[in-house]
Amino acid sequence: MPLPPLWSLGHQQSRYSYYPDKLVEHIADQYRAHDLPLDVIHLDIHYMDGYRVFTWDKSRFPDPAGLARSLAAKGIRLVTIVDPGVKFQPEGGYTPYDEGLAKNFYLKQTDGSVYVGEVWPGKSVFVDYTKEDARRWWGEQHRALTAAGVAGIWTDMNEPADFRDPSGKLHENIRFDDLGQHTPYNGLRNTFALNMARATYEGLQRLQPDRRPFVITRAGYAGIQRYAVKWTGDNNATFASLSLNVPMFASLGLSGEAFVGADIPGFIGRGDGELLARSYQIAAFSPFFRNHTAIDSYDKEPWRFGAYYEDIARKFIKLRYALLPFIYTTMEEAARTGVPLFRPLVLNFQDDENTATIDDQFMVGDALLAAPVTRAAQREREVYFPAGTWFDYWSGAIIAGGQMRSVAVPLDHLPLYVRGGSIVPSTVAMRHTGEKPWNPLRFDVYPDAHGAATGSLYEDDGLSPAYQRARCAAPPSPSPTAGSACAPRAPSSRRRASSRSSSTASRPMPCSSTAPR
Ligand code: NOJ
Repeated sequence: MPLPPLWSLGHQQSRYSYYPDKLVEHIADQYRAHDLPLDVIHLDIHYMDGYRVFTWDKSRFPDPAGLARSLAAKGIRLVTIVDPGVKFQPEGGYTPYDEGLAKNFYLKQTDGSVYVGEVWPGKSVFVDYTKEDARRWWGEQHRALTAAGVAGIWTDMNEPADFRDPSGKLHENIRFDDLGQHTPYNGLRNTFALNMARATYEGLQRLQPDRRPFVITRAGYAGIQRYAVKWTGDNNATFASLSLNVPMFASLGLSGEAFVGADIPGFIGRGDGELLARSYQIAAFSPFFRNHTAIDSYDKEPWRFGAYYEDIARKFIKLRYALLPFIYTTMEEAARTGVPLFRPLVLNFQDDENTATIDDQFMVGDALLAAPVTRAAQREREVYFPAGTWFDYWSGAIIAGGQMRSVAVPLDHLPLYVRGGSIVPSTVAMRHTGEKPWNPLRFDVYPDAHGAATGSLYEDDGLSPAYQRARCAAPPSPSPTAGSACAPRAPSSRRRASSRSSSTASRPMPCSSTAPR
């Protein structure tokens, strides 16, 4: 996967749907008033004019650019949803439909007619993304959004969903162009979302060459990580659903899709404060970190559940921001090597057979082990510690590995441990990723049994694709001395630090930093 912009690792808020613009402003203000960090607000389908993609509903959003500017002043970016269904409007007046038809870009049937299905706008047509010129055209359409200051695109319903005939029977006559091979629908349907995400990603690259694109997707196929972040779709606001987070994120990570997340605290249904608290304890470490809810459900912003639960959510959102140097460094590793941030224990401890079936604990990179709670009213749980030395993240207490332990899990507590032998970079919590530099930078050193520890810090501008052109020329230094392995003027740098000394659990490292924007 490409390295994401730093802001996309921040906390995000969504709803099906926030409108009009005043409500969006209100949500942003509430976030700041409640001292809850936030980087992004998402606009779901009601921002469009009659669900016509690449339009704005002018009564709800008379000045999208003004809204984006006002949010930007608060450090918040806008992401808008884009569905594949283009409103079928043969009577004219909708340029994207007219243009796509004139250019022969829509999916056709064996008799040569354009396939007309049904999605949010009613009758709809779908782009044949196997055509290169159609992909290019689709990418260009996003200008209507980026010109207004939209920072990222959320592609949805891209299986593609079709209300007209969910059985798929009517699709049997559709043919993908597929470089002139006219491949039957069943042969390529699963690549529809991949090609739509590609069209979107490459379109954003062309429209904003100085920015890293940010694209979210619901559907995918092998290789989707090259273009889009995956969220797990319409989950239930239940503990049963929450318990699937760890196995799903870990499996997606092992399948190459490292940038994943689920709706917090769950899309469908009400959920309660306890679920919200436990959801944030997992989500603080899932790469995609978004609160979202369904059209007919109660509001689920953290303050809607009462101060007690809001305080717990805040604690974990702030922990996420404090650990951004570690998280961003680990995402850079994922972008470079494919090894995900969110890992099943078996990935880190492959010789430990006990880890093969553990799907209720996870590793964050190489250093952190989390044992979340996914059952209502649970106040105690078993935690497995692989061999080695472990440190309780909160108390610093040392725990010997190679054992199972029962730990107390009050509602405000996530069992979180650091592997002995790690150095974890962190910084101060902030209201959004761009609020201030990572200053001071803090390096907590957790020595192994021999008193040694290693860790890395990756830094760049957090926003531009310059890292692709100027990856650190030299490989990370294997020598056990702290310092930079990169040329001093490289736009991105990865520092590897080692410490071999006393058994002090936490000590500052002699290292300074330039901050990402
Ligand atoms: C389905 C998506 O999964 C959901 O997140 C979204 O809110 C609705 N479509 C409406 O766009």
